[in-house]
Amino acid sequence: MSNIHLSNFDAIILGAGAAGLMAAISAGRRGRRVLVLDHAPEAGRKILISGGGRCNFTNLHCAPDRFLSANPHFARSALSRYTQGDFIALVRKHGIAFHEKTLGQLFCDGSARAVVAMLLAECAAAGVELRLGEHITAVERPDGFRVSTGRGDVAAPALVLATGGLSIPKMGATGLAHDIARRFGLPLVSPRPGLVPLTFQGAPLELMRPLSGVALPAIARCGKRAFPEALLFTHRGLSGPAILQISSYWQEGAPITLDLLPGMDAPAVLRERKRARPRAEPKTVLAELLPGRLAAALAEAHLPTKPMAELPDRALDALALQLKRWELLPAGTEGYAKAEVTLGGVDTAALSSRSMEAKSVPGLFVIGEAVDVTGWLGGYNFQWAWSSGWVAGEAL
Ligand code: FDA
Repeated sequence: MSNIHLSNFDAIILGAGAAGLMAAISAGRRGRRVLVLDHAPEAGRKILISGGGRCNFTNLHCAPDRFLSANPHFARSALSRYTQGDFIALVRKHGIAFHEKTLGQLFCDGSARAVVAMLLAECAAAGVELRLGEHITAVERPDGFRVSTGRGDVAAPALVLATGGLSIPKMGATGLAHDIARRFGLPLVSPRPGLVPLTFQGAPLELMRPLSGVALPAIARCGKRAFPEALLFTHRGLSGPAILQISSYWQEGAPITLDLLPGMDAPAVLRERKRARPRAEPKTVLAELLPGRLAAALAEAHLPTKPMAELPDRALDALALQLKRWELLPAGTEGYAKAEVTLGGVDTAALSSRSMEAKSVPGLFVIGEAVDVTGWLGGYNFQWAWSSGWVAGEAL
């Protein structure tokens, strides 16, 4: 006896994360009968851990130029049709208190759990059926889409791939969306970890490792990109927002440069301190400009232990250059285990930017992080999930 329920649903959404729940809300509100399937025991797990448990749910300055994609124009349509203002209005409607932390980043005052509760309440109000703990074993397209799970088969004329990227496999991230897309003939842009700490080897690592935990404001650069934010030394290399941001633009074999004294004319400052404090040691002078441990390590690595007055200006200039343009060759990244996002994914050339529907497979939609659209750090990735999910839901 068949256990296929062919006519129960208008759409099946794989993944009860940020994008999948948003697509379900938008389609459900339009009267579509929607089923959401997820293998996790609870919905929106990444939302729960995001932003240190307070969910940086969007960014006031969200704009298409803050996203990476092989087609930088692709995100424009969805981002303009469901904006950060739309999501903020939803958050306000649910009475969730929030604040701007920095750089337009909006965080909950309380727990990220409020955002998941809001999405689930909206799903319930829109009549969405949510099934958790469902292991998807097969997806076929006999006539419409049939999804097999350990508990039976379900079918619908539309299927939405919203299972996200490969980051944090420990939390249940899988390549399911990529695999299904590939099977239906959609091309992929090679996935790689993004917003991820960088690792180093050899002499740079020897300098960095003992500095683990030291943080300072800096500018990280790679090619034409520059991010003035906090930098953090780790036991494997570098992290902190400036590094996470630049990591998404970094390609293997390319150098990055660091400005450890942003906004400061370092040669002029060091020469001035030499005149003002001739008997001071370089590490003492540097410690007025940088965290003490870093100052001591850099002074030891680059200057003799002599009073400032005995150091030639050219030695101070060389150190200043190092502080302003420290060129480093990363060995790699800390990988998907530590990456906040996955760069690459389903090639946008295969999708409609208006609806996220596959051009060659009517009824198949791909949304959220599974698509080759990746935002900067700071709430941009959730906004992409909300926007791409919303427009897909409008088309289901
Ligand atoms: P998401 O990963 O949210 O959801 C995918 C869903 O699919 C999950 O529920 C998963 O269980 C399910 N799934 C996966 N494989 C499956 C399978 N084989 N079968 C069934 N179900 C399956 N962004 C931001 O804007 N602000 C922030 O503060 C943060 N903070 C943050 C912290 C950390 C630690 C991480 C790892 C990431 C962030 N992010 C973030 C990024 C953000 O979490 C991410 O971009 C979105 O969650 C992507 O939304 P999606 O819905 O596309 O995938």
